[in-house]
Amino acid sequence: MHWLGLLSMPLAVQAQGFSTTMLRFGCSQIVIDRIDPLVEPGSIPSAHVHQMWENAFNASMPVTDISKLASCTSCTFDQDLSNYWTANVYFRARNGTFKRVPQMVNDQIGAANGGITVYYTAPGPNTVTAFKPGFRMFSGDVARRTPTNLGRKVQSCFRCYTGPNFGGNTYSPCFDLQRDTEGLPQTPCPGGIRSSVIFPICWDGKNLDSPNHMDHVAHPVDGPASFAMVDGKCPSTHPVKIPQVHYEIVWDTTKFNNKEEWPEAGSQPFVLSTGDPTGYGQHGDYVFGWKDNTLQHAMDNRCFGPTCRGLTTQGFNKANQCTVKTVVREDNNGWLKELPGGHHIM
Ligand SMILES: *[C@@H]1O[C@H](CO)[C@@H](O)[C@H](O)[C@H]1NC(C)=O
Ligand SMILES: *[C@@H]1O[C@H](CO)[C@@H](O)[C@H](O)[C@H]1NC(C)=O
Repeated sequence: MHWLGLLSMPLAVQAQGFSTTMLRFGCSQIVIDRIDPLVEPGSIPSAHVHQMWENAFNASMPVTDISKLASCTSCTFDQDLSNYWTANVYFRARNGTFKRVPQMVNDQIGAANGGITVYYTAPGPNTVTAFKPGFRMFSGDVARRTPTNLGRKVQSCFRCYTGPNFGGNTYSPCFDLQRDTEGLPQTPCPGGIRSSVIFPICWDGKNLDSPNHMDHVAHPVDGPASFAMVDGKCPSTHPVKIPQVHYEIVWDTTKFNNKEEWPEAGSQPFVLSTGDPTGYGQHGDYVFGWKDNTLQHAMDNRCFGPTCRGLTTQGFNKANQCTVKTVVREDNNGWLKELPGGHHIM
């Protein structure tokens, strides 16, 4: 379990309540498309390109038990039919054209097709209430272009892998102030770049969604919970502790590391599909879709890593077959004159 570094975690950190109940597993990419059922339901195309993992994904996702709509899952847990999606990353060449940056499979995940690593964390057994069917939420601020300076409590960060094999260190996303940055790395990363997005851990106990997809959830009273530091007290407005959802995506930026091709001004060349050249506007979208009470079961039984007694898993040979058809037909692979949706870099 070196990926969590739990064994080598300093005792002081463990004493602060580092969780021991944590699912960590992979989901293959199912589609890259310009739809967004959470923020722009029914809008084809949506404002910017997303990539998705999981199934039952279309431009408008009904507020219902989506685990009953999907016919397959691209995740390794058979019971997880949730939808996970994020913005894509593009390389901006010196001549002003853009190319989508492919993904690579994360440490200790297996033969996924690109994909995402998903974590669900609880402080211990019987401490969280799993999401209800139809629940969805959003984390991040697409318009942000400045750091929050939340230090280890930051909810979105990047890691510049300094060498192959994840720079030899995949420890504690957003927790390692030496290695993680809130904005996109400023120097070439020989091992690629990891994105991390962390979601709030308190819920109002009533609403499955809210107009901005954020107000029905909240951070603990003493501020956002770092990765796996989930023992904070929830505010009275949002008293129900929910599992901490956390995404990791590893971008294979290695083909774009030639500084001769980087902007002459000396800035880094990567932009999010929203037009964000800083990375501070990184965000994640989540639609819950675990079957029946399976997520509650996992959280209550100290499940850890990619397996859980009582749940079943499939291999990536099967998970990779779970795909959906692209809705918006546009070039996602060539050199583009502009970002899909015509986003300006700002
Ligand atoms: C999306 O999927 C839902 C459920 O399967 C369906 O009711 C709806 O019509 C679909 N919408 C589109 C735009 O395909
Ligand atoms: C722009 O630059 C990229 C990378 O250097 C190159 O592959 C591409 O062919 C160039 N496109 C044009 C239109 O010059």
